[in-house]
Amino acid sequence: MQEIDWKNLSFGYMKTDYNVRVYYRDGKWGEVEVCSEETIPMHMAATCLHYGQEAFEGLKAYRCPDGKVRVFRVDENAARLQSTCHGIMMPEVPTELFIEMVKKVVRLNERFIPPYESGATLYIRPLLIGTSAQVGVHPSKEYLFLIFVTPVGPYFKGGFSTNPYVIVREYDRSAPLGTGIYKVGGNYAASLKANDIAHQKGYACEFYLDAKEKKYMDECGAANFFGIKDNTYVTPKSTSILPSITNKSLMQLAEDYGMKVERRQIPEDELETFEEAGACGTAAVISPISYIDDLDTGKRYTFSKDGQPGPMSTKLYNHLRNIQYGIEEDKHGWTTVVIE
Ligand code: PLP
Ligand code: COI
Repeated sequence: MQEIDWKNLSFGYMKTDYNVRVYYRDGKWGEVEVCSEETIPMHMAATCLHYGQEAFEGLKAYRCPDGKVRVFRVDENAARLQSTCHGIMMPEVPTELFIEMVKKVVRLNERFIPPYESGATLYIRPLLIGTSAQVGVHPSKEYLFLIFVTPVGPYFKGGFSTNPYVIVREYDRSAPLGTGIYKVGGNYAASLKANDIAHQKGYACEFYLDAKEKKYMDECGAANFFGIKDNTYVTPKSTSILPSITNKSLMQLAEDYGMKVERRQIPEDELETFEEAGACGTAAVISPISYIDDLDTGKRYTFSKDGQPGPMSTKLYNHLRNIQYGIEEDKHGWTTVVIE
């Protein structure tokens, strides 16, 4: 095998040895298959291609200093996929099947799990697609659920270091009663233009305001938002954002510290009052925000004057990572050992 430069991995795709697949036919899931093929033979009229009957998930496997390999809150990813399945009328993938396949694909690709010291991780990507040929707009009868893995480095530049973000008002990622709460590909297609604008202007990522009033913070294209002030962790409550498992975990940790936790609407103006702010997600972990610009109003909200992550973001980041890597006590039972 070609040597992998673990320390300089980007958040990209690299071929690994195996993926795992299971087909839904005649109203039931079949047997799990191990596959070394990277492509999917598919009918050109498959519902995933035409009508976006597609969902995915994202989680990571961590090679820990104690030699074990752990995954983080895998049951939560299974539950969120089930919620997405309800949202776009696909059959649920049972939690046991989801977890069995995650374990299998990680074990089969053990040689691609980055060493602890590298800071890189093995990204696990479950994918569920409607495969029946159909021209009318209806749910598919047959589905393919597969999971592949790929070693990844940081999603945002520098990993745990501050980056500038930007509110882009000309685009909405999702509608208030749309699919924003589900992890479907269409949300990401809808984010590509705003994301391109943000990148072209030198920002790490775009932020969306709520689509109806254009007044409240929603989230980024691929991560939730949180702000810290007065010993309080504040994060948006919205019907158009993805319920982030990382955010849910950070809320719990903040509560464990005795901080107040508020999940509520955050008017854009309130950004002025935050001492720290960050984007959070599996890929982003915590990406501390230096400032957020609003392109239309010309306003800049600054959270880091010296370019350094704030103390609470740092504490949360270190604590979360230490739980994921089996270094600190996992008192909420969030991790699962996949390789002893
Ligand atoms: N928001 C969006 C739009 C995402 O794509 C992700 C990534 O999964 C998140 C938030 C963060 O969610 P999680 O912490 O479960 O990875
Ligand atoms: C994740 O954080 O797992 C994501 O899915 C974000 C992005 C790569 C879509």
